[in-house]
Amino acid sequence: MPDDSIKKTVGVALGVCLVCSVLVSTAAVTLNAIQEENKKLDKIKNILLAGGLLSDGMEDIKAAYDEKVEPTLIELATGAIVSEENYDKVLNIEHFDLKAICSHSDYSDAISPKKDIANIKRRPRYMLVYSVKENGQTDKVILPVFGKGLWSTLFGFVALNKDMKTVAGFTFYEHGETPGLGGEIDNPRWKKMWLGKAAFNDAGEVVIEVLKGKVDNAGANANHQIDGLSGATLTTRGVDQLVKYWLSSDGYGPFLNKLRQEG
Ligand SMILES: Cc1cc2nc3c(=O)[nH]c(=O)nc-3n(C[C@H](O)[C@H](O)[C@H](O)COP(=O)(O)O)c2cc1C
Repeated sequence: MPDDSIKKTVGVALGVCLVCSVLVSTAAVTLNAIQEENKKLDKIKNILLAGGLLSDGMEDIKAAYDEKVEPTLIELATGAIVSEENYDKVLNIEHFDLKAICSHSDYSDAISPKKDIANIKRRPRYMLVYSVKENGQTDKVILPVFGKGLWSTLFGFVALNKDMKTVAGFTFYEHGETPGLGGEIDNPRWKKMWLGKAAFNDAGEVVIEVLKGKVDNAGANANHQIDGLSGATLTTRGVDQLVKYWLSSDGYGPFLNKLRQEG
């Protein structure tokens, strides 16, 4: 068959396509496992970061997590711990997948628009929370939070000190906001502003708020206010609302009340 025949040209083109598609699919399948593993590791890193447990140059992040952090599955409505005999394929610590839980009507409920200040549409009935223990006592709790920003749903953690009142750490591990604008929620300087702020007042009401603009540090409310991000009012509002939602009685309120009573 001559080199410039149509049959040969089409045959070679198809052959090249076939080889390339096999290579691309193999790479996608092989890399998927690595990507998933990296995602898990990044989440663990953020749990440590929120809990103030991540140090520079820490080599074995997984080992530090296993040593210092205790995951617990809770029922949001009551704040009670879900015992192992009630675990199933979806509801268990090992394979807890927040997005899967929220899309499953057996494990989540629709939120009425009036109550849905975090704009998440569905509320999981269960959450995986993390505690840091010191001498057998709860020193900090690290609570997963999520809610809508401008372009994306933001997923992160709020950590509370053992007083169950002041913020010990705040971080996001997944979002799609614009770098330099809403993406400044990842800025370490901004995250530092959250440390020590009062999330609740003495009456147990949620008081923390992210302002549009700067906090008046001499003002009476400075202890529970955080600067908004300039040029990113919508992301800022999303963060303010999601934190308020998750700390309220619709979120971790019952669980935190239980911890306060026990402590
Ligand atoms: C390309 C582009 C990306 C933007 N990304 C964000 C963002 O991630 N978060 C946000 O709140 N606003 C973002 N904005 C700005 C919003 O559209 C809106 O103007 C802003 O939130 C208002 O904030 P300001 O009142 O502080 O100006 C973006 C605007 C443009 C043009």
